[in-house]
Amino acid sequence: MVDDINRIVETTLAQIDGAKSTVALDGIEREAFGKKGSLTSVLRSMKDIAPEDRRRIGRLVNDAKARVQGAVDARREAISREEREGAAQAQRLDITLPGRFIRLGRKHPLTRVLDEMCGIFIGMGFTVVEGPEVETPWYNFTALNIPEDHPVMDEKNTFFLGAGLLLRTETSAIQARVMETQAPPVRVLGPGRCYRRDAVDATHSHTFHQVEALVVDEGISFADLKGTVELYFKRMFGEGTRLRFRPDYFPFVEPGAEVAFSCHVCDGVGCPVCKQSGWIELGGCGMVHPNVLENVGYDSERYTGFAFGLGLERMAMLKYGIDDMRLFYENDVRFLAQFR
Ligand code: PHE
Repeated sequence: MVDDINRIVETTLAQIDGAKSTVALDGIEREAFGKKGSLTSVLRSMKDIAPEDRRRIGRLVNDAKARVQGAVDARREAISREEREGAAQAQRLDITLPGRFIRLGRKHPLTRVLDEMCGIFIGMGFTVVEGPEVETPWYNFTALNIPEDHPVMDEKNTFFLGAGLLLRTETSAIQARVMETQAPPVRVLGPGRCYRRDAVDATHSHTFHQVEALVVDEGISFADLKGTVELYFKRMFGEGTRLRFRPDYFPFVEPGAEVAFSCHVCDGVGCPVCKQSGWIELGGCGMVHPNVLENVGYDSERYTGFAFGLGLERMAMLKYGIDDMRLFYENDVRFLAQFR
């Protein structure tokens, strides 16, 4: 009997020691203390023991039970600690790992220059407007006092779409659209994409952008035009910027002028950027032709106005020192990522 008890205790303790999970431990516990368990049957056979031995054997059995139960409890505690630690280890977060790199989008250089330009003009009280890129000959030519025999009417320069439509050749097409929907005073800035049948090279594209400005009110003079353009260039290219106006012809202005500003790279001395001339031409301007005002129903005796149109690509090229216009349209990330 005593030997039996010791043997049961030995083997059970060894099993408990080797148990790897709570489930295995439950099984071992059941084998010892269950209805048909090894220790339970020992207890059950107590009735067959001689009365004089009962006390001794009884104590032995109780000790055995206590030892086994204690070992089970200790092992269960250890296993659940191991399981908790294992789970924690599996979920461990390595905060020293470098983060995943997210490539941030950037504004296109043309958008950046345009945004800056709009900011400057909004500061002067202008409103930014847009017009359609698909236009009618009326807004692109006729309303702008462009005669039938003008070269832009020629197939060579304009993309005609058929059905009386064309791709606008200049943002000046926005002028009549604005004026026919509102009475003076008008003070708008009209950026937009333009199209011409031009061969592509470093300084030309069939698709390009202009920014149009139009101001109409009573008493607007050429001095207002010069002052506005000058303020813009100084803000955009620096306080030292000087302007040059030279007579030029555009059917929709009279007088008309070509506008150039002193080269911001060499300060007018002469360098490769300004082709040694000291001046950089950026567009046309002039006083709105009375015919244009009359075409939209404005009283040309009462109102005068000025307009100018500047090339956006040209401005961005000068601002950022870019020597090939084609870079703007190729969407090469290595180029675009440089503008921040
Ligand atoms: N639209 C003219 C061009 O494309 C520029 C211009 C605009 C000239 C407004 C005078 C007034 O060259």
